[in-house]
Amino acid sequence: MPSVYLKTYGCQMNERDSEAVAAQLVAKGYSLATDADKADVVLLNTCSVRDTAEQKAVNKMEAVAGRMRKERPSAVLGFLGCMAQSRGEELIDQLPDVDLVLGTQKFHRTAEYVDDLLQQRREKIVDTDDEKGSEATIREHLLNGNAPKKSVTAFVSIMQGCNQYCTFCIVPYTRGHERCRSIEDIVTECRELAEGGVKEITLLGQIVNSYGKREIGVKDGKSAFVQLIEAVHAIDGIERIRFTSPHPKGYGEDLVEAYARLPKLVEHAHLPVQSGSNRMLKLMHRGYTRERFEELVRQLRATAPDIGIGTDIIVGFPGETDADLEQTLDLCREIQFDNAFIFKYSPRRNTPAAAMPEQLPEAEIEARHAAVLKTVDNIRANRLREHVGQEMQILVEGPSRRNPARLEGRTRCNKIAVFEGAPRHIGQLLPIRITEATQTTLYGDPAIVNLN
Ligand code: SAH
Ligand code: F3S
Repeated sequence: MPSVYLKTYGCQMNERDSEAVAAQLVAKGYSLATDADKADVVLLNTCSVRDTAEQKAVNKMEAVAGRMRKERPSAVLGFLGCMAQSRGEELIDQLPDVDLVLGTQKFHRTAEYVDDLLQQRREKIVDTDDEKGSEATIREHLLNGNAPKKSVTAFVSIMQGCNQYCTFCIVPYTRGHERCRSIEDIVTECRELAEGGVKEITLLGQIVNSYGKREIGVKDGKSAFVQLIEAVHAIDGIERIRFTSPHPKGYGEDLVEAYARLPKLVEHAHLPVQSGSNRMLKLMHRGYTRERFEELVRQLRATAPDIGIGTDIIVGFPGETDADLEQTLDLCREIQFDNAFIFKYSPRRNTPAAAMPEQLPEAEIEARHAAVLKTVDNIRANRLREHVGQEMQILVEGPSRRNPARLEGRTRCNKIAVFEGAPRHIGQLLPIRITEATQTTLYGDPAIVNLN
């Protein structure tokens, strides 16, 4: 059977989509290749959120196409996902060797289209149409079957799209408007994952706290998203629940209170703030103020004192002044984020911010990025050091990426912890005594004797 090389760019949602595509192809008898040059089919699942992500995928495809033209001219080359959705046909004009351009609502048709192209039933396929119900098609998982290791954690896509239209963001255009899956459908998927040995579920969506607002609504004072968490919480075998990303706007008290009430909901929140300046937040169309964000963090920490709080920040948004940047730095120092992703503003096609005057020069954005990065890196390292001496529960995920002779897992607050253990510990929840912290990682020893 033909082999497929599938590479993913971008966020966890893309990872999840790729996993479902891979599972679909494997079910049809394809094998997965690790080397693009030896594969019969090369698929790149793309990201459009920043220009660099698009460039990476285009460069990769150019390099692969150049070699394939000489060595394997019959190979099928395809772009999937966000860039495919936003650029469509134009990608084939730019890279004529590409045979397939498949948008974000069409992942479930990948195998069928690849078949058509390999059998030469069709020459080129571009499909970026909307498809009703496509949010429910990302459900296949690659668990033990073809995966190199048994998975302890899994991502579950609960919704697609976004209606917020932040002025810098391309996602509403590449992923479409918000659509959610039913609670029943999601629970069925989680139950199957639990039966396959998965212990931790991360619920995925652009704004998870908007889940089911229109379709399901509030019941007994609980938002649809909290109802969903409760339903997943009731599944035997699932030990931990995470979600990403919630949006500070509309983050209700019921979701804050859920941390106190639902023990499987681990103490971690990735809360993208984007800026510490109210002027920027307004221009970004974020829908909350700095004060509202601070209040939310206060509520979360009052409810779950050990909560790990992460964020996303954009520097160099059009019109951002030194004073605006200072407010972002000030917010970082005040909140003491456990983790923060700092992004250089990148103008995206068709977004309002791309047309705003006062675009900042690249060198200035670069300098601001470095300043914020330095601040948040220091804060992250300090926060990690505070854990030294503590006993923390970790879910053991597998061999450490840095040193495969050791094991690693994550704490409830989402920090990576490395320790000496045995393969039988994979999948277990273990108490670990933290002995050391580096810039990014905790190290520790199992805190119980007679481990089995
Ligand atoms: N759904 C998420 C955001 C998805 S995009 C939310 O909760 O808001 C992931 C991150 O990419 C955003 O949080 C933002 O920090 C960054 N990002 C999005 N568009 C960007 C752009 N045009 N330039 C730079 N960073 C951007
Ligand atoms: Fe993008 Fe804002 Fe939605 S960042 S994904 S438009 S919440």
